[in-house]
Amino acid sequence: MAAKNISILGTGAYVPEAVLTNEQLEKIVNTSAQWIVERSGIQERRIAGPEENIATMATAASRQALANAGVEPSQLSYIILGTNSPDYLYPAAAIRVQEALGLSGQLGAFDLQAGCSGFSYALHLAERLVAPEGKYALVIGSDANSRFTDWTDRSTCVLFGDGAGAVVLGPAQKGRIMASFIASSLNMNLYCTTEFNAEVSPFLPPQTHATRSFLRMDGPEIFKFAVKAVKESIRRIVELAQIKPEELDFLIIHQGNYRILETGAKFAKVPMEKVFVNIHRYGNTSAASVPIALHEAVEEGHIKEGDKVLLISFGAGATWGATLLEWGK
Ligand code: ACO
Repeated sequence: MAAKNISILGTGAYVPEAVLTNEQLEKIVNTSAQWIVERSGIQERRIAGPEENIATMATAASRQALANAGVEPSQLSYIILGTNSPDYLYPAAAIRVQEALGLSGQLGAFDLQAGCSGFSYALHLAERLVAPEGKYALVIGSDANSRFTDWTDRSTCVLFGDGAGAVVLGPAQKGRIMASFIASSLNMNLYCTTEFNAEVSPFLPPQTHATRSFLRMDGPEIFKFAVKAVKESIRRIVELAQIKPEELDFLIIHQGNYRILETGAKFAKVPMEKVFVNIHRYGNTSAASVPIALHEAVEEGHIKEGDKVLLISFGAGATWGATLLEWGK
């Protein structure tokens, strides 16, 4: 069977209700609201409540994406969920989404861990799974970073937030994925140990065992990597699609830091009006960042049929990746 044109048919997003402002953070750690906004662009972020988790946030975003796509859950063949902050190491959160959508036993659902690039990795993989047979996939990014944050570490706790975004991928008449790639190389400047690490051993006294898992980051080193990853992503994707950077109509870049978005736009010779920004409201939501931004960009009317839309991710691993879409169903 000939491969079909595959595109994003619908988007959805969910963010928790609870807002944590920079001013509230001033009372928690030694920081200032002004420092946070000047160095990162972030003004506030959302924090998952006790009843919320990776699967509940992902399910809410997924229901909206399915409704916007006009696709029934029963039409799905795959659910792929990118996350770095699973509630359980196993079972996969994707299977809890599958169950919530009433699809028990009807398809394969699995999680994927690729830092903040989890959604881009999942999208890249999903296209290759559904294209040959014209099937449908639900692709999700969902992260509750607040649960892996050391709230005494001002160099990380001001940057992250919680949320989920989802898209439905499937056969399209008008839209298509023009090009995509994923890449990785080992970079230990951003990492999170698990409670099940080498310090937990029957040969060590219990009091030396690590008890909490926190993310740790060398911000300036990650900043340098991120800028390089954005530039490399633009260079590589325009080469793959054989277009010029000036032909890009709209950019959705992982919301890691406003200054990274600016540098990327400058390199692509794209004015900032063509770069979606919501970091001021949500901070860095890891794997959820790109699909939340894409959903809001679509809802706000920034993207129209036929536009060349570039999605760029970068994150822990290090990982990076991009997808170029010609927008349309
Ligand atoms: N409040 C006040 N001061 C602070 C804070 C804070 N929250 N955090 C750090 N500082 C201080 C530092 O201690 C330092 O002080 P010093 O000069 O006396 O030592 C000073 O501010 C400057 O610190 P830098 O880390 O050099 O500040 P920088 O301008 O690089 O900004 C930041 C830091 C915002 C973290 C930036 O490096 C960054 O955004 N990095 C990338 C983060 C990112 O995008 N991650 C994406 C991947 S995430 C993922 O994959 C899960």
